[in-house]
Amino acid sequence: MAGLSLPQKAIPPKYFYDAAGSRLFERICRLPEYYVTRAELSLTRLHIAAIARFAGRGCELVEYGSGESMKTRLLIRALRPAAYLPVDISAAALQQAAKQLAQDFPWLKIVPVLGDFSRPIELPAPRAARHASRAGRVVYFPGSTIGNLDPEEAHAFLAMTRDQAGRMLVGVDLKKDANVLHAAYNDSRGVTAAFNLNILARINRELGGDFDLRRFAHYAFYNAPLGRIEMHLVSLARQRVRVAGHRFGFERGESIHTENSYKYSAEGFRALAAAAGYTGKRLWTDRKGLFALHGLTAV
Ligand code: AVJ
Repeated sequence: MAGLSLPQKAIPPKYFYDAAGSRLFERICRLPEYYVTRAELSLTRLHIAAIARFAGRGCELVEYGSGESMKTRLLIRALRPAAYLPVDISAAALQQAAKQLAQDFPWLKIVPVLGDFSRPIELPAPRAARHASRAGRVVYFPGSTIGNLDPEEAHAFLAMTRDQAGRMLVGVDLKKDANVLHAAYNDSRGVTAAFNLNILARINRELGGDFDLRRFAHYAFYNAPLGRIEMHLVSLARQRVRVAGHRFGFERGESIHTENSYKYSAEGFRALAAAAGYTGKRLWTDRKGLFALHGLTAV
């Protein structure tokens, strides 16, 4: 309601991920144009030994926005963490992931944490005394999920994790040719469009909305000065929509801003991390230089 009442209407991207949205996102990850997932998986495979050495074997691994998580499996195998704490906003995704991991890694202590990390979040206390200091914990934040946050929010998130762990592994999408970015968020099969529009379908389902999905169109572009992909839903007509008893008017061409996906140069992200109290110690990239994994240590 608050977002739809702004002059530039907006809905936070965390609401994309109901069951249908999570399935659509998994389809996005397999699209030929969406290089993000493959690039991160390939750099993780390429550098897994060094990544595990940086994190420290036997640490407690905290993962934010855990989701499906192929990369996490690689990391768990290499790291043999004393505990794995997945943090996710979706109870269903969390349960599913925990169940699957328990099957694959019977020796692994799994502590799922249901929570929205756009606000400060309280983690359960470390299991063993030797993990009692934050130095025994490592935060893993892959997938460029941090790109959804604007720089001020990213700063706040990093500052929060700084009190929870001594080290952090964070996956960040790199700046690149705008044509490559454009294709990744405007795929030819229309899966990204369906993913974007699903947020309106979700409002209809869960908040008794009457959005007509045929009267909105997916629009994504790279905003170069701000270094981010923006996704919008553009109203194709002048119209009024009802959501849970409230009315919202749309001009033809007016949009709802649904997502930002920030892209950072290696130096740009290091500067952001430094401002939040982290030193950028290591940097791993895939062979094509599309995606970066930063190894940060708390100052
Ligand atoms: C899950 C936030 C990393 O920004 O690339 C994919 C979400 N949106 N296609 C991204 C997304 C459209 C994705 N993140």
